[in-house]
Amino acid sequence: MKALILAGGSGTRLRPLTHTSAKQLVPIANKPILFYGIEGLVEAGISEIGIITGETGTEVRQVVGNGSQWGITISYIPQHEPLGLAHCVLIAQDFLGNDDFVMYLGDNMLEQNLRDLVKDFKNKRTNSELDCRILLKKVANPSSFGVAVVNDAGHVTGLVEKPENPPSDLALVGVYLFTAVIHQAVASIVPSARGELEITDAIQWLIEQGLAVDHDILEGWWIDTGKKDPLLECNRLVLGTINSSINDEASISSNSVINGPVQVGRQSSIAGSTITGPVVIGENVTIENCQIGPYASIGDGCVLSSTTLDDSVLLKNCSISMAGRITSSLLGRSSSVTGTTSATTTSLMLGDDSIVELR
Ligand code: DAU
Repeated sequence: MKALILAGGSGTRLRPLTHTSAKQLVPIANKPILFYGIEGLVEAGISEIGIITGETGTEVRQVVGNGSQWGITISYIPQHEPLGLAHCVLIAQDFLGNDDFVMYLGDNMLEQNLRDLVKDFKNKRTNSELDCRILLKKVANPSSFGVAVVNDAGHVTGLVEKPENPPSDLALVGVYLFTAVIHQAVASIVPSARGELEITDAIQWLIEQGLAVDHDILEGWWIDTGKKDPLLECNRLVLGTINSSINDEASISSNSVINGPVQVGRQSSIAGSTITGPVVIGENVTIENCQIGPYASIGDGCVLSSTTLDDSVLLKNCSISMAGRITSSLLGRSSSVTGTTSATTTSLMLGDDSIVELR
């Protein structure tokens, strides 16, 4: 079984961050979102992964590499325009051949491990006819997703992409298990009103042909990280699982206090500060006279002084000084936030290299 990860698209909902970088590479607890998906697939026993890339393809290749860091093979399939999820399957046909595969949306994060999902699909394939399995999750805002209708007998009877009036509250999760018959489906559908070849329509085509499409209700949390607030929620959930680890080469002054699970990377230094976990601090980070946490992920090379920071993700090399309380924020690489008072509370979403002066 192979896997196809979709890491193209335009990332419009995470602008300005995605003007300069791929949304699938934004870090959660200091690890790129995409790595969680790759590691989940590797854990499920998959050793051949194809990654669809778009205009951020060079950066994705550079960060992910050829798979050797996980002992697997990763190949890249460039998509010249984001023409839809089913279009990704269409252009990956040479890579996928006749194999069954997992299609994984590179901006999705799930709590449930993929090992059981893949194992169960393989078992069911051996024992009965099965052409496709979708994963569903009850959500409060089905209009933001693909939505499935499941009848009283438990059969999927229809699917619709981002409906204004959702026929159910069961959203399609961004992990799909397909057999080779999906290639016929993606070749048979036409672009939707928004101009994309929708995977939802391709699965609907399978249902209309009388092919066997079943579903599983996902356990645990699932987050489409494509916007700031869900991304921060995901950061909180992942940080909620970490254990403490302070690198031997990190220095923590005697006038600092560390509470709860906190990770500190190589050559980072903390002085006169209180860190309340869960918090992840990368390498070469300097923190002076700050209150950090809970729920902060601080990338390598950041410099923070005289500031309170919680519920935020900082990419590499950000600096924050005298900025009061920064909360619910997502800061792109090398962003700088400076202030003059400790009295304000600010929530920011900044692209790479942004400069903010709070007065
Ligand atoms: O997150 C689950 C939802 O994902 C499903 O409920 C929907 O049915 C499904 O259509 C999809 O909706 P989104 O609008 O969230 O998809 P998005 O455009 O964010 O693309 C998902 C991933 O696929 C993302 O990593 C970008 C990548 N992608 C997207 C398109 C349209 C590509 O690689 N190429 C593309 O052409």
